[in-house]
Amino acid sequence: MTCSLEVKIPESPPHGYPLVIGENLFPEIRNYLPQSSSRLFIISDENVADLYLADLTKNLPCPFTTFIIEAGEESKNLDNFGKICSAAVKADLSRKDTIIALGGGVIGDIAGFAAASYQRGINFIQIPTTLLAMVDSSIGGKVAVNLPDAKNMVGAFYQPHAVIADVNTLRTLPDKELKTGLAEVLKYAFLAKSCNTETAIDLLTFLESNQDKILTKDSQTMITLINACAVLKAAVVNQDEKETGLRAILNLGHTFAHALESLTGYRHYTHGEAVAIGIKGAFLLAADKGLISEEYKEKALNLLSSYGLTYTIPDDLSPEEIYAAMLHDKKASLGQLTFILPTAMAEVGIFPSVLPKEIKEVISKLKNPKNSSHNP
Ligand code: NAD
Ligand code: GLY
Repeated sequence: MTCSLEVKIPESPPHGYPLVIGENLFPEIRNYLPQSSSRLFIISDENVADLYLADLTKNLPCPFTTFIIEAGEESKNLDNFGKICSAAVKADLSRKDTIIALGGGVIGDIAGFAAASYQRGINFIQIPTTLLAMVDSSIGGKVAVNLPDAKNMVGAFYQPHAVIADVNTLRTLPDKELKTGLAEVLKYAFLAKSCNTETAIDLLTFLESNQDKILTKDSQTMITLINACAVLKAAVVNQDEKETGLRAILNLGHTFAHALESLTGYRHYTHGEAVAIGIKGAFLLAADKGLISEEYKEKALNLLSSYGLTYTIPDDLSPEEIYAAMLHDKKASLGQLTFILPTAMAEVGIFPSVLPKEIKEVISKLKNPKNSSHNP
């Protein structure tokens, strides 16, 4: 089974692009390359390159250059961005050519930012190889690098020419990275109804009923799961490409997450692990504010636990420190923090101006799970 859908953005070129999700897709990638392209520049990390670069390149129709960076979030930085751009000049990459991002969200984000900036923008294609990248980061055109003190602080909105997700690549994905992706999948389950679109499955129910098949990465189950998330993400991006409103809901859990990631030097947590803590924080905050029932909060926390998404905050980080880091987030404005909070089953709302006291109380509960009623 291969699923194919389209992102359709009315205002900005390329206006629409295909998202293809299936198995054995590498031989088909040539069909999605821009016609103008006579040279390709493939960016990957060392793990993914070892596993998949040979497979990818044997199927390409034109000459290519590769640029391989060290794996991990710490590589998503301005230094590597500069090196990629210089290597593109050396490779004679022209405006008509194409950058291919082969890897997880780190590669997609930095390669996409290079594509957005090099010669003021050249084509790029996303070939996501992690669950997180397939369900989220490869779709919708957010591309960026981190600064040492703030996540994704330098970047652009720049849409790819195509996204090709071959679920066969998930077979080699370590369990830790699978769980990281599942944190973003659960995010979609908790906000599905707010995306103003229909999906073939009810994600919350699907996650509750198909745990074994998901955790063993059964191909058809993964295609169904990724397709459902992609439909939701594409719908949100189609309605609000540049995050002037609705797209902010995709940041559920992310204000907590970005603060924890930057405070711990991008080394302690994967992005999804930090998002899982952030989603838990959002549910605790929503329950404290009386937005959701205790039952729904417990259902959500149980689902997180059942996928092993239970991570803790290092002892040496204080609520004050975490709160201060949140104020550096892109979503903070004049000292006010906006939170995406659950409001009903699979629905979320946007809450500007949550009080510092409320946030610090939740951080204390996250640091001390015994106080959050759910104690995995
Ligand atoms: P990642 O790119 O660091 O990949 C995780 C690890 O898995 C790496 O070590 C990588 O080498 C390895 N790997 C990748 N594919 C593999 C495979 N098929 N088999 C074996 N190993 C494989 O991390 P990620 O979780 O994919 O992405 C996280 C990044 O995505 C963060 O920087 C986050 O900010 C970003 N992100 C961006 C968006 C967006 O909209 N642009 C959305 C969500 C997250
Ligand atoms: N991952 C959040 C977004 O794409 O908007």
